[in-house]
Amino acid sequence: TYPERVRILDVSPRDGLQNEKQPVPAAVKIELVHRLQAAGLREIEVTSYVSPKWVPQMADNHEVMAGLQRRPGVRYAVLTPNLKGFEAALADRPDEIVVFGAASEAFSQRNINCSIAQSIERFAPVVEAALQAGIAVRGAMSCTVGCPYEGDVPPERVAMLAGLMKSIGVQRVDVADTIGVGTPLKVQRAIEAAARHYDLDHISAHFHDTYGQALANTLAALQLGVWNVQASVAGLGGCPYAKGATGNVATEDVVYMLHGMGIDTGIDLDALVDTGAWISAQLGRATASRAARALLAR
Ligand code: HMG
Ligand code: MG
Repeated sequence: TYPERVRILDVSPRDGLQNEKQPVPAAVKIELVHRLQAAGLREIEVTSYVSPKWVPQMADNHEVMAGLQRRPGVRYAVLTPNLKGFEAALADRPDEIVVFGAASEAFSQRNINCSIAQSIERFAPVVEAALQAGIAVRGAMSCTVGCPYEGDVPPERVAMLAGLMKSIGVQRVDVADTIGVGTPLKVQRAIEAAARHYDLDHISAHFHDTYGQALANTLAALQLGVWNVQASVAGLGGCPYAKGATGNVATEDVVYMLHGMGIDTGIDLDALVDTGAWISAQLGRATASRAARALLAR
């Protein structure tokens, strides 16, 4: 059985653009968010408050957040790896902050420059401060099936990280396949591992499409009862600390699949396809969404 309704969080302004080498003006990022919300997205990951030396593309976080015309009912999320990031984000009033850890030690070191245990120590005061400020808290868990530096990651590591996230008060978690190496049964094992600490209503699927598995993996997550799905319009993206990894599953492809299955998303596929075509044109590249290509060719 499948859920009747699926909630999609579009991560393109953040995950989609963070690794983009050419400068993307803040005005373009702002318009991307506006187009996504007009297409019916109710959760959008807007930016991150990380070191501009590490991720220059997200250095305009304040400008982007300040430029948003917010819609009631839309949740605007931002990444905050430490208190410095959280304090910077607080001024911009996000609805949700995201602490981001990894199920692999090597990726934790490369991505956020600390061990898994240290990351939890850094996240704890961020989570506490966010909850006190009435801001929701999500925990992204990277490398839940494979790591670019360590190879296969066993489900036990995911369960361990989910338990640590739970212990510091993180309200919901993402099971992320950062480098897109997962296949359906493997991502199901990772989700089940997270489900030892979080109920399925509080687990999101975050799959990258490097090996063309992200849509199949998304379906596998739905089969377990997960109904929060992350995707990136036009399939934009990649993580700077996961070499060769491509973007997330394309939002258009997920919506096409779900609507074809009779599952409600609240999203207008035509408006979404237009948004993907628009941002792809801004970046001067073809969309990675198969559904968008087919629909635009009709
Ligand atoms: P660090 O060097 O260990 O931090 O970096 P530090 O506390 O020692 O500070 C060093 C410098 O960074 C100082 O500046 C700080 O002020 C500054 P300096 O004195 O050298 O000029 N700094 C900051 N600046 C802005 N905002 C901050 C901040 N913190 C310190 N919050 C840090 C630690 C986490 C900051 C660094 O490693 C970093 O920025 N990493 C980037 C991580 C990142 O954005 N990765 C991509 C997102 S995660 C992802 O894509 C995966 C995901 O999609 C799920 C999936 O697919 O797996 C979520
Ligand atoms: Mg990602």
